[in-house]
Amino acid sequence: SRSVQLAVIPGDGIGPEVTAEALKVLEATPTGVKFEPTRYDLGAERYLATGEVLPDTVLEEVRAHDAILLGAVGGKPGDPNLPPGLLERGLLLRLRFELDHYVNLRPSRIFPGAASPLADPGEVDFVVVREGTEGPYTGNGGALRVGTPAEVATEVSVNTAFGVERVVRDAFARAQKRRRKLTLVHKTNVLVHAGAVWWRLVQEVAPEFPDVTVDYMHVDATMIHLVTNPSRFDVLVTDNLFGDIVTDLAAAITGGIGLAASGNVNPDRTTPSMFEPVHGSAPDIAGQGTADPVAAILSGALLLEHLGLDDAAAAVERAVVEELAARTPGAPVVTAEVGDSVAARVAG
Ligand code: NAD
Ligand code: IPM
Ligand code: MN
Repeated sequence: SRSVQLAVIPGDGIGPEVTAEALKVLEATPTGVKFEPTRYDLGAERYLATGEVLPDTVLEEVRAHDAILLGAVGGKPGDPNLPPGLLERGLLLRLRFELDHYVNLRPSRIFPGAASPLADPGEVDFVVVREGTEGPYTGNGGALRVGTPAEVATEVSVNTAFGVERVVRDAFARAQKRRRKLTLVHKTNVLVHAGAVWWRLVQEVAPEFPDVTVDYMHVDATMIHLVTNPSRFDVLVTDNLFGDIVTDLAAAITGGIGLAASGNVNPDRTTPSMFEPVHGSAPDIAGQGTADPVAAILSGALLLEHLGLDDAAAAVERAVVEELAARTPGAPVVTAEVGDSVAARVAG
């Protein structure tokens, strides 16, 4: 039978806790393929022990896999030996950039049984297509006269026609397969240079998808509509930083950050795509065995879908829906029990 080479990067904090459960579920799912996981001990511990973040040789090994499952990256806050952003940039963003994960796919649904904090949210099922390789994340910028009252720091947002066009086209294609509605989210009233590129390319690509309705919303107003009328959205397309922020709110309104899955996708399939929860290493709850592994498990479902195993992906989703429906509201989550239970449900 077909075997799938899986690079597993559990990472820091709750990353290893939730990744173990996601793997458990993947291995229990009837897929017809055999997962062959290789574990990579990248993260804070390795950095603190060796000074290594992502050695080139490891990156090349990871690149040779069919897909990547990642937990979370980020050490303990305030650790004097760990410069801020070092792991986030050097490990997570480096993987996204080097593997050209230009589609950061973040679906948001209120699953039956999930506890939305909104009183009457209606049917909520949208996808944020977040650009994954550009924007203010590229590290362009710098600081002058650091530490003086005259200090100046800049972070320059990079928006190339090439990079914007490809993610916009991907978002249109996804909208066409869904409810055929695309919302461009930006801040064209202030960020006029970047805004103009996004606006123009959405207009230029639109005629290729004549059945998709296009609208535009400023990112600040998007925060309002996500809370007051989230069911209006189908596909949202936006830049790297806006997409980061929008998807934490999207997670919160659809039942919490513990349920939000993501894929860092290279639609051209020239590199392995990488699947990870939207959440981080959650140092505040790490080591307690109380992190919700559903976000990681659903990221595993996105991985299955990416590999063309649609039935298996749907089976994992169904098992999660059952699991959420069986939850007692307010009861504490036990990470390993959730994994065991979802694995048992998916195995039938
Ligand atoms: P976070 O997502 O780690 O945590 C935010 C809040 O959500 C915390 O209260 C946490 O306890 C809670 N939470 C997160 N995941 C949960 C889960 N599965 N179950 C229950 N509760 C959960 O965000 P943060 O605190 O801003 O960041 C912590 C570290 O993680 C930082 O170093 C940050 O850079 C990093 N980070 C990494 C990723 C990633 O690897 N993709 C994503 C976000 C943040
Ligand atoms: C996420 C995280 C990352 C991001 C950080 C840790 C680099 O917040 O995956 O949402 O901003 O993309
Ligand atoms: Mn984020």
